[in-house]
Amino acid sequence: MNAKTAPNIGLFALAALLVATAAPLAAQSPAEYQAAVDAAYAKYKDLKEGANADYIPALAKVDSNIFGLALVTADGKLYTAGDIRSEVSIQSISKVFTMAKVMEEQGTDAILNRIGADATGMRFNSIVSIEWSQKGLGGPEMNALVNPGAIAATSMVRGETREEIWNSILSYYSDFAGRPLAVNKEVFDSEAATNQRNQAIGYLNYAYGYIKAEPMRATDIYTEQCSVSVNAKDLAMMAASLAFGGRNPVTGKQVMKSENVPEVLAVMATAGLYDDSGKWLYRTGLPAKSGVGGGIIAVSPGKFGIAVVAPPLDAAGNSVKAQKAIADISNALGGNPYAPKAR
Ligand code: DON
Repeated sequence: MNAKTAPNIGLFALAALLVATAAPLAAQSPAEYQAAVDAAYAKYKDLKEGANADYIPALAKVDSNIFGLALVTADGKLYTAGDIRSEVSIQSISKVFTMAKVMEEQGTDAILNRIGADATGMRFNSIVSIEWSQKGLGGPEMNALVNPGAIAATSMVRGETREEIWNSILSYYSDFAGRPLAVNKEVFDSEAATNQRNQAIGYLNYAYGYIKAEPMRATDIYTEQCSVSVNAKDLAMMAASLAFGGRNPVTGKQVMKSENVPEVLAVMATAGLYDDSGKWLYRTGLPAKSGVGGGIIAVSPGKFGIAVVAPPLDAAGNSVKAQKAIADISNALGGNPYAPKAR
């Protein structure tokens, strides 16, 4: 070895070390996946914390005991526990997929430029956040996962008529779930009759140019998208399609452009659990999204998509049991993408 080759050998050794460190963990066995899901179900099935949302009257009537868990891996294998048949309304989880649809149609900058990609630090239905964005921050400093940004995103979906826009949203969601989804009419009517606050958000968005036209049509379509009926398995399939580069791992269909997935996950990580998004990320590292119907989806990129449905919510509007169960399952399976991988 001479003085010239020595540094090269050092570099090779360093490169080899880096490659070895980055090598993927041996995947867990199916039994380990099922055991993690079963353990979370057993641990939390009798937990009685939280309460159903009741500001949308129909949600107060949903069975508080529904508790369904589903996890989907890259090979399309499904691991479940509890009640995976009972359906709840998708609510705010829908916002992820409408945002993805706008990105699909207009590119990721369209969301960034019109709505923003920052936490508002305010409640999900805050009107002050629009006012502050416009008057305090001078532009679109919201995100597409709080109501103001979500209603603006819905207004951006392409289509000539309400029917055309709605059909394209519903079929987009259905592709993610891998089956035709439908609206829960009772929930839609109930929210449409009580959504004056969202109507105010629609109008204020319009006044400031975050919505370009027909703010009440956008608010109404947004209300309908929140009323789509899903079970834990549907939501897990939707999460898994995000976990595996925009491809539904069961149907094999590429449901969104893979290059847009990182931006979708980034907004979920920033604002998916509203005021508690930071705490959630701190505990799990997972991009996720909650809905006041009681569902939460979470994504471990390249590893699994997971969803839990359990209607009782905490004060921030996130399902109590779903947060606990997903955190336990993910931590048991090494799902945190920020965690160093042991060898
Ligand atoms: O607009 C609303 O208030 C509901 N349709 C959705 C809110 C929601 O799911 C917030 N979730 N945590």
